[in-house]
Amino acid sequence: MFSMSNTNVNKEVKMEDIVSLCKRRGFIFQGSEIYGGLAGTFDYGPYGVALKRNIENAWRKRFIVDREDIYEVNADILMSPKAWEASGHVAGFADPLTECDKCKRRFRRDHIDGDKCPECKVGNLGETRNFNMMFKTQVGAMEDSSSTVYLRPETAGGMFVNFKNIMDSLHPKLPFGMAQIGKAFRNEITPRDFVFRLREMEQMEIEYFINPADWEEKFAELQKEFKSFMLDIGLDENKIHEVEIGDEDRAHYSKRTIDFEYDFPIGQKELAGLAYRGEFDLKSHQEYSKVNLEYMDEETKTKFLPHVIEPSIGVERSVLAVLSTAYIEEDISEAKDGSDVRVVLKLKNNIAPVKICVSPLLKNKEILTDKAREIYKTLKSEFGAVMYDDNGNIGKRYRRQDEIGTPYCVVVDFETIESDNSVGVRDRDTMQQERVKIDELSEYFAKKLKI
Ligand code: GAP
Repeated sequence: MFSMSNTNVNKEVKMEDIVSLCKRRGFIFQGSEIYGGLAGTFDYGPYGVALKRNIENAWRKRFIVDREDIYEVNADILMSPKAWEASGHVAGFADPLTECDKCKRRFRRDHIDGDKCPECKVGNLGETRNFNMMFKTQVGAMEDSSSTVYLRPETAGGMFVNFKNIMDSLHPKLPFGMAQIGKAFRNEITPRDFVFRLREMEQMEIEYFINPADWEEKFAELQKEFKSFMLDIGLDENKIHEVEIGDEDRAHYSKRTIDFEYDFPIGQKELAGLAYRGEFDLKSHQEYSKVNLEYMDEETKTKFLPHVIEPSIGVERSVLAVLSTAYIEEDISEAKDGSDVRVVLKLKNNIAPVKICVSPLLKNKEILTDKAREIYKTLKSEFGAVMYDDNGNIGKRYRRQDEIGTPYCVVVDFETIESDNSVGVRDRDTMQQERVKIDELSEYFAKKLKI
């Protein structure tokens, strides 16, 4: 049997490795690929969707299910344009844009060194101007400025405009939070690096409302929790860098920001942010909407605008961080199954899109396939993310399941039928197999998957 001395032969995971695995195994595809692709958009296949949902559910579990003080909401993407005036996005949500005087390509000025065009190499880059990143569209049949609305650039806005609704309907006491997972849109000048910089993305955001006197304590608590969530989804603690953002680089609304940067295949880049937004948002929405958004403290009988701390993280950047951490190429020349290197996604069990794969050793032997189908049905009803796979030979199936990141493969063989009613269970990481009795499988996986 194969020993555990297998080593990672690809220490520097490259973006191409991840992109290629995502396409060949049905995780993530370029958006509108058959039409040549639409920059900054990506579509998710079945394993990508499952991975995304598992990451979202880990976030939901830590911040909503396991707590009493954070309420989940689901606001619409289209909102009153006044909300984006109040938030400062209409006036100031812009990136510096420059254009080449020869090829006319446009770039983000802060992504380029020097004045020469990085594409055509002959042209010069022109003056820098501000480019608002919000996507505009129209509501109704009128096509003038009165009908202009924006696709939301962050999910945060949907929570601030519902602050009063939550106060009036649930009467929460401070501190409490509102949380939302949803789409956000940014007309990035140069979307790039696979799903790192997108024009359409999903965010997981919390607006945590506090008494201003508590902000430092609550900021520190949320910073710790945020990092724990990153570990929940299998990120490597050594690759997380908590970076204090200086006054000149902070967003207009923030009094303190810590960025969580991560060692992605493209280098150390922002994965998430934790911002102390003070009273900026509620004060501004109160002014623009003329609706009182103050909180009444029953103990002190005082009214004030709560302050806000916001942990915000992109789903796609989380997916990329998870995939690039889990991706390993191992030297398995000792395995003697004909392959020297196996690609494996060592995903945490809670994040893996498929938890168990059930196979018959041979696909044309009814005696094996009937039993495998029966086991598959039972396990699927209990553990959900279970797959039946009889495609190719058993070696190929293992390689496929390794690349999908499936932690366990169950194989029904002749020993199952002829001898002791046991099946082979193969562990993805060790590649070791053990025999487990069919009627003990449920308990075995309940323990392994901690369900
Ligand atoms: N509400 C605060 C806010 O939106 P942000 O730093 O602009 O702050 C939060 O965005 C997170 O959303 C980022 O840390 C990142 O994970 C993700 N994100 C932002 N822009 C993105 C883009 N163009 N593509 C993919 N993810 C993005």
